Amino acid sequence: TLLSQFEIQEIDQTVLLWLNDIRQKTIAAMQQRLDVHEKRDNRDLVTNVDQDNEKFINDKIRHFDAEAHIVSEEGFGDHNQDMNGRVWFVDPIDGTMNFVKQKTDFAVMIALYEDNQPVLGWILDVVNNVVYHGGPQIGVFANQLRLKPPIDDNLSEGIVLLSGARLLYGMFGYDKIAKAALGYRVIGAAGPSFIRVIMGQAIGYSSKMMPWDFAAGQVLAKTLGLSVSDIDGKALDMLSSNIVLVATNRAHRDILTLHQS
Ligand code: IPD
Ligand code: CA
Ligand code: CA
Ligand code: CA
Repeated sequence: TLLSQFEIQEIDQTVLLWLNDIRQKTIAAMQQRLDVHEKRDNRDLVTNVDQDNEKFINDKIRHFDAEAHIVSEEGFGDHNQDMNGRVWFVDPIDGTMNFVKQKTDFAVMIALYEDNQPVLGWILDVVNNVVYHGGPQIGVFANQLRLKPPIDDNLSEGIVLLSGARLLYGMFGYDKIAKAALGYRVIGAAGPSFIRVIMGQAIGYSSKMMPWDFAAGQVLAKTLGLSVSDIDGKALDMLSSNIVLVATNRAHRDILTLHQS
């Protein structure tokens, strides 16, 4: 059973209320000492706030939508095998290193898909108190303000955002892409990078990401007419890691061509 536009609007409003609580809890926790742990290595961090936020959000989802599956980063989700029915994606703090060291340029991200189709996405910029949210049925908003599609600049006319580690080691042709762009930046977090592309501040962004890193951004970007695919131009696999490319249509073509050359 596919969701009606009315139901989608209700879900959007409900999640905005959760995110308001999450924002207050996250800001309060930032006044206290953070409990920081290493996962795989010293660049892969998790804090008490990542874990508390994920528990809070997943608990809300389970009460609100008991049949749905949850795909989330810190281990409180389900072991989901397919994209049938409703699937929620949760990244409780995206950009944990920025959160710990910069106290800015991090986000909380939630997305809802139904039968593998994007329905709604939310990217909360905690520090600036802006939620980027919406989907194909309702459009995209920054808080209450409806967003227009960004200008379709090509690669040489704009700033491209890239994953620093892959750029440093010349992976995925990122060195060629950075050279061909007007400028390049490394933001260090997926959500804040997607926000810049959605707002027209960057013409594109590419990084290797897990589904919770790109699920919300993909909904918002596609709704605004931007191109989202993997670096070979194929549709993203929502159940594994992908080398994601989001860009204006013209920059997307430029980057795919460069990548193949
Ligand atoms: C990470 C950030 C980073 C990206 C990594 C992600 P996390 O998210 O978005 O920019 O390069 O692939 O895992 O772990 O801080 O939520
Ligand atoms: Ca992480
Ligand atoms: Ca993330
Ligand atoms: Ca995270």
